[in-house]
Amino acid sequence: MDVRMIEKRDIEQVHEIEKNCFSDAWSITGIQESLDQNHTVLLGAWLDRKLSGYVIAYLSIDDCEIARIAVDGTCRRKGVALKLLEELKNVCLKRQVERIMLDVRSSNEAAVSLYGKFGFTQDGIRKNFYVRPTEDAVLMSFIIGK
Ligand SMILES: CC(C)(COP(=O)(O)OP(=O)(O)OC[C@H]1O[C@@H](n2cnc3c(N)ncnc32)[C@H](O)[C@@H]1OP(=O)(O)O)[C@@H](O)C(=O)NCCC(=O)NCCS
Repeated sequence: MDVRMIEKRDIEQVHEIEKNCFSDAWSITGIQESLDQNHTVLLGAWLDRKLSGYVIAYLSIDDCEIARIAVDGTCRRKGVALKLLEELKNVCLKRQVERIMLDVRSSNEAAVSLYGKFGFTQDGIRKNFYVRPTEDAVLMSFIIGK
């Protein structure tokens, strides 16, 4: 598996996975805008030269917030998401960012299990945080270097 930063030429492949994974998929323009921001990290994982998954995260001075993580339906349960989280952790370490945070739909068992396996802990619940459908968010964080 190859992991590297996503570039402009990869955006259409990111958008394809986005559409297949999320009801509120980001547009090509939205992905492009996040790529243009210098506090955003976009990492992609390639299997057999095909983009299999990506993570999009925002960095501030101390924190990293995961905005998106998705793996193509044909590439799941192969450790792609864990590898992306590991690489994101390495980026955070280099930039001396101390904590990774995220929120996840409470019904998303695959994602909650993934984050738990990586070492995230649950910090709380935000009631009715999501819409379409309305659902609670589980707030999770991972302290880097712990
Ligand atoms: C969640 C998601 C990113 C996981 O990607 P993945 O590459 O298949 O995950 P990995 O292979 O790295 O799995 C690592 C661990 O996560 C957990 N996990 C992953 N998919 C799971 C599933 N369907 N059910 C239960 N646990 C799951 C397991 O603990 C797994 O370890 P194991 O395979 O040894 O049991 C993927 O299912 C996905 O893209 N879902 C749709 C988008 C999404 O919901 N993103 C998260 C939004 S917060």
